[in-house]
Amino acid sequence: MSEYMDRFLSLKCSGDVLNAVGSMHKPEKEITESMGIIKHLKSITLKEKMKYSVIDLCAGNALTSILAIHMLPIKNAIAIDKKKRSGHYGKVKRFKYFEQDINKCWFDMSMVDSYEIQKFIAIAVHPCKTADDIIRIFNENPIIEHLIMMPCCNGDFKDLKNSSFLKEKGLSKYDLWTLHLVNNIKYADVSIYTDLKVLSPKNNIIVAHKK
Ligand SMILES: C[S@@+](CC[C@H](N)C(=O)[O-])C[C@H]1O[C@@H](n2cnc3c(N)ncnc32)[C@H](O)[C@@H]1O
Repeated sequence: MSEYMDRFLSLKCSGDVLNAVGSMHKPEKEITESMGIIKHLKSITLKEKMKYSVIDLCAGNALTSILAIHMLPIKNAIAIDKKKRSGHYGKVKRFKYFEQDINKCWFDMSMVDSYEIQKFIAIAVHPCKTADDIIRIFNENPIIEHLIMMPCCNGDFKDLKNSSFLKEKGLSKYDLWTLHLVNNIKYADVSIYTDLKVLSPKNNIIVAHKK
């Protein structure tokens, strides 16, 4: 069993989180992915307690944001996904789920009307083909100060300089896709981590902090 799974099961909140999230396709894999993101969220939010809200883009069942609201000193969490989900989201305090397209909803501030204007940390766990959109949303919105994203499906990385050289050196297409995403992040300090405790081969984590 992954160390992350052990850690999740030892949390007091794990039962509440699982009840709120509803059905999961591959629970162990999903939990390790969320725990990989939580590790980086923790290091930001423990430094500045109750300063941030979390916005979970392409949230799926919202496991990561629901875990975050239970575990970390954050103000609120918002999850956005275009697909209807079966979670019991009404039970979770300081949390809202929006069934929306991330490309259409972000500027509709009415969706956050119950929240004062505040600073956000955007998270995205395996957001499929929207990873480029998420980088754009991060770049364009000053109220998002940090981004933590674990990309999945490889997209187009033709704009990546020296990609054939990097490929010859042994970098996988997934690594090149990750580098393409990182190169498009503006005005931020960016790091990439490969988290081997995540039970998925798509285990690169991009962490960006605006300057
Ligand atoms: C692979 S799933 C990952 C879900 C979740 N983050 C997780 O790790 O379990 C990708 C999600 O992105 C959502 N999605 C794709 N395009 C979207 C868009 N434009 N706006 C909102 N959600 C989107 C899909 O509905 C799907 O739930």
